[in-house]
Amino acid sequence: MKKIAVLVSGGGTNLQALIDAQGRGEIVNGEIAAVISSKPGAYALERAARAGIPGCVMARKEYADSRSYTVALRDKLRELGIDLVVLAGFMIILTEELVEAYPNAILNVHPALIPSFCGEGFYGLHVHEKALEYGVKVSGATVHFVSAECDGGPIVLQKAVPVEEGDTPEALQRRIMEQAEWKLLPRAVSLFCQDRLQVDGRIVHITD
Ligand code: GAR
Repeated sequence: MKKIAVLVSGGGTNLQALIDAQGRGEIVNGEIAAVISSKPGAYALERAARAGIPGCVMARKEYADSRSYTVALRDKLRELGIDLVVLAGFMIILTEELVEAYPNAILNVHPALIPSFCGEGFYGLHVHEKALEYGVKVSGATVHFVSAECDGGPIVLQKAVPVEEGDTPEALQRRIMEQAEWKLLPRAVSLFCQDRLQVDGRIVHITD
């Protein structure tokens, strides 16, 4: 059974999707063992508590720089014996120490079709603002492995979602969450836990 840590910063609807999938037995060979929040008071921590999952806060502002924060986080994850790290609405950019400790074992959900609308500055609602400004007719979500490059790691799953006339960033965000993120993330986590993701350079093969 693989031990999963979910890293969060806010509302935690993607965490909830993982908790619900686990409740339905859809995370095969994996168990959410810890939730770590970069923000004190994040609602995601309440979701964890309600599900009986140990939660803790590691506040970014208590560390001098992102390197010392990443190293502390890495040490905590090792101490907990974590096999898979899931970034679910985690709004902090980490340095390479975590990727080196967990090569192809960190999954991130991004609310756009990478390589569009990604990289530094593209997070949360901003992603949808930029997509609407550009005038795209489809957007979507991507689950990918985390590499040293921001939003640049091998893609595991993607799903397109239509943009509709009169969309606000909030409306598009909600549609992408409902139709894509909340489905893709639990599926990718379950595939990882079953050792069904084989990474070959940039290409992720999904095996039977
Ligand atoms: C989600 O849309 C997630 O894809 C996005 O933030 C939202 C968090 O919602 N993540 C990023 O933008 C990371 N670059 P949640 O806290 O309700 O899961």
